[in-house]
Parts: sequence; structure tokens; C-alpha cells
Amino acid sequence: MMFDSKIITKDDLKNKKVLVRVDFNVPLENGIVQDNSRIKNISPTIKFLKDAGAKIILISHLGKTAQFNQAQSLKNIIREITNEYKLKVVFIEDCLDENASLIIENTPVSNIILVENLRFHSEEENCDFVFAKRLASWADFYINEAFSVSHRKHASIFAIPKFLPHAFGLAFVSEIRTINNFFNNVLPPRICIIGGMKLSTKINLLKNLVMKVDKLALGGSVAGVFLSSLRKKSPCTPDSDIYAEEVSLIIENSQKYNCELIMPVDFMISNVEQKALYCSVASPEINAADIFDIGPRTVELFKHHLRESKTVLWNGPMGLFEKSSFENGTLSLAQEVSRLSLDKKLTSIICGGDTVFAVNKFQVSKNISHISTAGGAFLAYLEGTKLPGIEAQKDFYTLQE
Ligand code: 3PG
Repeated sequence: MMFDSKIITKDDLKNKKVLVRVDFNVPLENGIVQDNSRIKNISPTIKFLKDAGAKIILISHLGKTAQFNQAQSLKNIIREITNEYKLKVVFIEDCLDENASLIIENTPVSNIILVENLRFHSEEENCDFVFAKRLASWADFYINEAFSVSHRKHASIFAIPKFLPHAFGLAFVSEIRTINNFFNNVLPPRICIIGGMKLSTKINLLKNLVMKVDKLALGGSVAGVFLSSLRKKSPCTPDSDIYAEEVSLIIENSQKYNCELIMPVDFMISNVEQKALYCSVASPEINAADIFDIGPRTVELFKHHLRESKTVLWNGPMGLFEKSSFENGTLSLAQEVSRLSLDKKLTSIICGGDTVFAVNKFQVSKNISHISTAGGAFLAYLEGTKLPGIEAQKDFYTLQE
């Protein structure tokens, strides 16, 4: 996808009402925002619109729900928005409120309008075009600044752009450029590190990556399933059984497409008391379900490959890093990625909720070149899936300073 479409400037948006689909699906505890990255990340678009003198109307979902409840009300994040954007928030309690349009009209440009959680109405997830048209009627222009939910064919993502001239937000464009650059423009070697507990969520990703990158390093339980296939051992988990054919194809393609498959040589497994036990890969009894971390020799092996690479894309922790006895693999790689990025020897992209949480926990996030706050959408895009949020914008404008 290229971003060289028609241009829209700040002058064009002066006094215009702009409907911005954002992703304020942020973690909350007792009504307090635990991580405001998604609010912070889109500040450049908010600033662009504010400088343009546009009236900003923010629409979003929060959580999975089909009816009103206090815990998933966007009211909970008003304070965070005020702090971040330094704008007074006018809150519309219900997106189907008959007075919504009037409230918008009467709100001064110096304020920012936030509309209650769209998922409180099932029309949002059902991609109802009547619903979308009603929201579109409030505004003159639409911006999708919610890459992280653009894999959903929902009304605010897919249908609204049918009714309004539209553009992608600045953070959205930056996210897509980063991924596209990784595959098309950066110098090799490009390494992907893929971990996590469930192969089911990664299998399509691996199928696509193996054809595109120079090195693919596997950790977590995902690696365990591959090992049993490589060793032609009888399947050791239900996953090995279900995905045996696909795993074999990925291994075959790694040779065909010249992608070096880097497998762990040792693991830390958990005994009955949940204590960490060292286990070489040669051990006949490794069960993917018992793998709780990569072992120290694997850490050194992965670090060696990181040092040899120019760019890394990392998704999925190496083990159960939330527990100190199993954090070494994820922690050591996070520190190495951070060090190499700081020294400008490596460009680093971190994606996926758990991995982002890990780099934050280990306090290395400031050195990472790009941290994606998108989970499912990022993976879907990496898998090569067409995202409804991108497909919907056939004739988009580009925001230009
Ligand atoms: C996310 O957090 O990944 C996005 O907000 C999408 O949320 P969803 O999985 O509930 O659609």
C-alpha cells in the first residue's frame, strides 16, 4: 500500500468537523488507565487537526461488549485525554443520542469531543451501514487513526469511509511504513524472533515470514512443536498433531527460500513445584507444554544472530517472563536488542501485547526503534491478510503539514 494519494492540508480542514476513529481500547484497573501508549501515539494527528482549526470528534471501542457498562465506558479515560492533549473534553454519552449532532455543532473548536464506546451498540460490530451513515452525518471528513483495530470489519472502520472523504492518521501511516520497510527496503540480514505459547496464533505468520526474511528464530512453546517435527519424533503435544503438515511445509520452505531457521538448543522446563530445570534439546522427553523459557546456550545463540543482523522484528516472549525464574530468555534478548539499537547497529521492531509489556517491564523500551501497540492487526498485516480498514479507503487523502 502506497501513501502517495491526494493531499489534504491544514488549511483544507480549517473549521471542518473531523471524525477520527481511534483505538482507546486501553487497559483499565478500577477506572484508571494502566498504559496510555495508544492515547500518546496518536498525538501528532490530534496536534495536526488542532493546528488546522478543525473540530475533532473521537470515536472508539473499549473492550468486547454489546451493552452499556460502567467499566467499559470511555468516560474512564477523559482525564487521561485531557492530560495528554491539553484539551477540554466534551463527552457524548451515547453515539445514537438524538442530540449528538447538536452537541457537536455547539462545541467550540478549542474543545475535543469524545463519543461513548461504539460497541455498546451491536450495529458497530455488525458493520451496519445505517449506523455508519448516522455517525458520518456529524462530520465533513473521516480519519482512521486506529491501525490496531483495522483487521475488524466494523462500522466505524469499514463503513464510515464510504460516506465521507477520508484519510489515514499519521500514526497509522507510520506503522504501515515501518512494516513495509522491514520487508522491502532494509538491508539484510533481517531476523524475525517469534515466541509465545500457542502455535495456533502464529502458524500463518510463520508461513508468510519464512518466505520473506533471512533468519527466523523460534522460542517459547512454538519452538517445541517445531523441534518434535524436525526430530521426526512422535508428536508430543496436540499442537504437533494438528499442525504437523504445516510445520513440515514451513521447514521445507525455509530451505527453499533460503531462510535460516534458528532453533533453541536448550530450554528451562518447570518441575512439579514450578522450579526451573535445565533441559538440553537432546533430552528425549521434552514436552512443549513443559517449556517455560529458552535455556542459556540458546540465549547466547540468539544474541549471536542478533549481532549479525541489521533489523529485527520480534513478536512473542521466549517464555513465562512474568515469573522471575523463567524471565532470563526474554530479559536477555530484550537487553541485547536494546543495546544494539542504542549503538545504532540494529533497527528493532517490537510487536504484540506480551512482548511490548516485556520490554516495558525490563525498562528497555526507550531504545527500541519501533514499538507497535497493535496486536491482532499487526499480525494479520504481517501474515499478508488484507485489512478491512485499509481496503475501505480506496480513494484516500494524505494529511500534509
Ligand atoms: C486490540 O486491542 O487489539 C484492538 O483494540 C482490537 O480489539 P478487539 O480484539 O476487541 O477487536
